Amino acid sequence: PLKTLIKMLAVASVFATSFNVFAEPIEIKFSHVVAENTPKGQMALKFKELVEQRLPGEYKVSVFPNSQLFGDNNELAALLLNDVQFVAPSLSKFERYTKRLQVFDLPFLFNDMDAVNRFQQGEAGQALLNSMSRKGIVGLGYLHNGMKQFSANAPLKQPSDAKGLKFRVMASDVLAAQFDAVGAIPVKKPFSEVFTLLQTRAIDGQENTWSNTYSQKFYEVQSHITESNHGVLDYMVVTSDAFWKSLPADKRKVIKEALDESIALGNKIAAEKDNEDKQLILDSKRSQLVTLTPAERQQWVDVMKPVWAKFEDQVGKDVIEAAVAANK
Ligand code: LMR
Repeated sequence: PLKTLIKMLAVASVFATSFNVFAEPIEIKFSHVVAENTPKGQMALKFKELVEQRLPGEYKVSVFPNSQLFGDNNELAALLLNDVQFVAPSLSKFERYTKRLQVFDLPFLFNDMDAVNRFQQGEAGQALLNSMSRKGIVGLGYLHNGMKQFSANAPLKQPSDAKGLKFRVMASDVLAAQFDAVGAIPVKKPFSEVFTLLQTRAIDGQENTWSNTYSQKFYEVQSHITESNHGVLDYMVVTSDAFWKSLPADKRKVIKEALDESIALGNKIAAEKDNEDKQLILDSKRSQLVTLTPAERQQWVDVMKPVWAKFEDQVGKDVIEAAVAANK
């Protein structure tokens, strides 16, 4: 009977290991810096739902919004240390790992989000997903947020209106150059600090999408928003090469499909929120909308577009040309 018992235990333990019966699910951490009611916040939650539905008991996804776990200054380093497995920084925040993605920051490059999408899904855009492979970062897909608007505690109609004002920028030399071009003072700061910097008037303005301006309440501490649509704020969902390769091929496939579907939902939400959050801001009457005439907008184009030439060598002429061509 003892022999039988030992045999039974052995069989049970083989069964348990091969079918992962007693093992805890493997935790996948997804960290981001925005609120949950945003395209990225919703995309991450959808990803959690789909992975846990399709790989029950095997994988669980923990989502950390609002820079709770990691913020702008450390999320990519944390990814490479495997302290987090998925992050989706804005395309402006990869400068330390590749200069090619700076194409997305060039002011007045894309006419609209359709052009952005065409470029991302085209050959050049898809190649950029692999631009950090030598650094151990795998680009799994692009996620939209939207076009950026300028906000400040002053109406910005002409480029000279921005002169001498301090603007928060993401950690991107292109974005800094864009504000230098109008004689403003760019200040690189993490997203989590922007509200307080604006509220205390340590800085005068910032640039962001309607969704971020709404969900972070920037409009409550900025008197004016200029509808400039001067640039794009989108994301790349990335993981580390080490983590990605450590997954069994069949699980990786399921996880990638879940991610693609979550991104599709996030993109749909991005398009909706762009209008909705703008309207919510206008309805609040906390911040006044500044609209530019075509001639006024052209003045901003004229002073900011020379920034392209400064970064042409780093970004690659071919990449810039492909992006321009996506405007059709
Ligand atoms: C910002 O820093 O303004 C944005 O990148 C935040 C975000 O992730 O949308």
